[in-house]
Amino acid sequence: MAFTRLATIVSLALGLIERATCTNGKTAGNAVCCPLFDAVDFLQTNLFDGGECGEEAHSALRLTFHDAIEFSIHGGMGGGADGSILVFNATELQFHANRGIDDITSRQFPVFQALNEQSGLSGGDFVHLAGAVGTANCPGAPRLEFMLGRLAPVAPAPDLTIPEPTDTVTAILARFADAGFSPEEVIVLLSSHTIAAADDIDTTIPGTPFDSTVNTFDTQIFLEVLLKGTLFPGNDPQPGEITSPIAGEMLLQSDFLLSQDSRTACFLAVHDNQERMTTQFKAAMAKLQTLGQNTASLVDCSDVIPVPAPFPGPIKFPPSFSKADLQIACTQEAFPSLATVAGPAPTLAPVPAS
Ligand code: HEM
Ligand SMILES: *[C@@H]1O[C@H](CO)[C@@H](O)[C@H](O)[C@H]1NC(C)=O
Repeated sequence: MAFTRLATIVSLALGLIERATCTNGKTAGNAVCCPLFDAVDFLQTNLFDGGECGEEAHSALRLTFHDAIEFSIHGGMGGGADGSILVFNATELQFHANRGIDDITSRQFPVFQALNEQSGLSGGDFVHLAGAVGTANCPGAPRLEFMLGRLAPVAPAPDLTIPEPTDTVTAILARFADAGFSPEEVIVLLSSHTIAAADDIDTTIPGTPFDSTVNTFDTQIFLEVLLKGTLFPGNDPQPGEITSPIAGEMLLQSDFLLSQDSRTACFLAVHDNQERMTTQFKAAMAKLQTLGQNTASLVDCSDVIPVPAPFPGPIKFPPSFSKADLQIACTQEAFPSLATVAGPAPTLAPVPAS
């Protein structure tokens, strides 16, 4: 009796540590994950310029959101993280919120087709694998999970499920709540705007970054979104766009309003911490990237995701900026004391198109 129990415990423990060795000598938690190592190499070569945290990596993360958020816990909104944005692009790219997404899907489509032929990867698995690999190319990022086995999408999602930068805080929080996310998770997911730039909100200034460290996955976005910017400025103002006092930077109206609203302001403050932000972002992304999927029938293939380069160091104010340039709405959390990078006020370079 005691022996049987011991044997069970030992075999369970062995089961936990037993890993599949793939033909390339790499190991994965499950043998079905083995072909994905080659798929990841293929993505790095054919989509991410050999592993860069550039425009395509940023775009791949954005696409996971536009695919997955098309979902409601009350039903009837689409299949969630199912790749419908890629497979039913003729319908979904017509949606106003998907302006510019055609650049991403047209770039990804041939890579998807090749991997679909080579290893049967579904549209949903492709979109969410590419998002996890692209994010891993950015120093400081968490190593996102990757679950394998999403079924092919059955239909395009309906319009008006994807938040827009001109939406009110109330509308944004309501849409996310309808998809199953709390206000805190909304802010955590918006950490993604730390590796983000806008091409389409204002087509006269393509590649305009949202923070001064656009190729690092840090909390710089939560600092710079608090800068006293100018709403609808300049000669060619676009709805949803705020001009940052940092030259060459754009702030999104929605990000700014969320940073000032009593329902969300303090969540920016508590996540202005690399460790906490990345841990929470990883958890929220795991939820986003499996929305609408039966996770019990997916296989955890997270071992195939590359390990991101470490966080390069504490965030700082860009040269010439300080706390005096911020409008801080959260009064419950002490604002961290941050150094200012030395030198003259910067002009940020646009993110080059791929
Ligand atoms: C309130 C919700 C959100 C709104 C209103 C919003 C809006 C936007 C807008 C307007 C852009 C710039 C598009 C352009 O002009 O090219 C953008 C970029 C981006 N967004 Fe969001 N977003 C939201 C949430 C998210 C979430 C949850 C994620 C990921 C988890 C995400 C990831 C990104 C990324 C990575 C980019 C940069 C893409 C690139 O540089 O190529 N966003 N977002
Ligand atoms: C849309 O999907 C078709 C296949 O249905 C593909 O050939 C095309 O490249 C895709 N276009 C974009 C913009 O994603």
